[in-house]
Amino acid sequence: MAKALRVGLLTGGGDCPGLNAVIRAVTKSLILQHNAEVIGFEDGFLGLIEQRIRPLSYSDVSGILTRGGTILGTSNKANPFKYFKRGGADVSPEVVKYCARTLSLDAIVVIGGDGTMTIANGLRERGLNLVGVPKTIDNDLIGTDRTFGFSTATAIATEALDRLHTTAQSHHRVMILETMGRYAGWIALYAGVAGGADVILIPEIPFSLEEVIRVCREREVGGQRFTLICVAEGARFRDGEMVVRQQVADSPDPVRLGGISRVIEDALQHHVRSEIRTTILGHMQRGGSPNAYDRNLGTAFGAYAASMVAQGQYGRMVTINGGRLMSIPFAEVAGKTRTVPPDAPMLAAALSVGTSFGAPDLTAIFGAEASAMVA
Ligand code: F6P
Repeated sequence: MAKALRVGLLTGGGDCPGLNAVIRAVTKSLILQHNAEVIGFEDGFLGLIEQRIRPLSYSDVSGILTRGGTILGTSNKANPFKYFKRGGADVSPEVVKYCARTLSLDAIVVIGGDGTMTIANGLRERGLNLVGVPKTIDNDLIGTDRTFGFSTATAIATEALDRLHTTAQSHHRVMILETMGRYAGWIALYAGVAGGADVILIPEIPFSLEEVIRVCREREVGGQRFTLICVAEGARFRDGEMVVRQQVADSPDPVRLGGISRVIEDALQHHVRSEIRTTILGHMQRGGSPNAYDRNLGTAFGAYAASMVAQGQYGRMVTINGGRLMSIPFAEVAGKTRTVPPDAPMLAAALSVGTSFGAPDLTAIFGAEASAMVA
């Protein structure tokens, strides 16, 4: 009889709704379909480096489908390729060698975003057998139409817009909501459309203040008397930079964005009659229970990752394209960002219903063809 598979599992980077759905699906599928032994690493790559492990049985992962966060813990700082011992010595080369021999595992499933896939690619080059599962509320991973977590984050941001809408309407105000998303505008675009925002500002389309003022003023005199603005944390003025909230020194991507909404409020207030209020939604978008879509996507991704392990399809990340599960080599994902392309159907749909992206010429470019581009 063939030796039973021994498979490790870790969650890397920021937490995200649906992580536990994936942990459950990978573990249950490996145990039920492939009679494997599953071992969880605690706190992402830190657990791999420090060999902090926990066996995962079928019952350990029962009842976690609906839970937010990750039962294994995570870290967006741990990187075996940049590992310094207390006192400052760089011990990365030894750590990487050590990880590569780790615990005589047949494979490790890594659930994470761009940073996790970049580390996974480096470990693959050193001979480790890895399979990736794409996680992030930002939806910005190359090669996949969706990452799990995005749908829930978008739903939370949409609910926030709905709530701000009623105050905007009642007080005749300009209400600004700032969403997360790093360098991609997916959350702001999808929540903005779902919440009926009058203005959506995303990193992919640098905006002009004059256009935002024009929309607010037109609405002030046009009977609506309020304006709802949904802005991605990575949005920027045409002649400006992204607003950095914080630098996290020991993180693979140290930049933390945030605060553009307040800059817009300050700039707008001298030009519109309405009062302006700003809400920065922040980590509300990442916490709590995943919605049905992310539970399903997480389960499908996890089951598929388990079958990839069983078939020895290593060095690849699970993807979903046109509704079909597939995979892509880590090397094609590592270090890249999938931003909103100019021909995104949702962009065209928003333009078609008169939403402003703070760039008047864009409407001129897409206007006539917008409805035809809606998939
Ligand atoms: O990548 C997910 C994300 O939530 C981004 O949208 C956001 O910019 C960043 O992580 C925030 O990171 P942290 O939790 O370290 O503040």
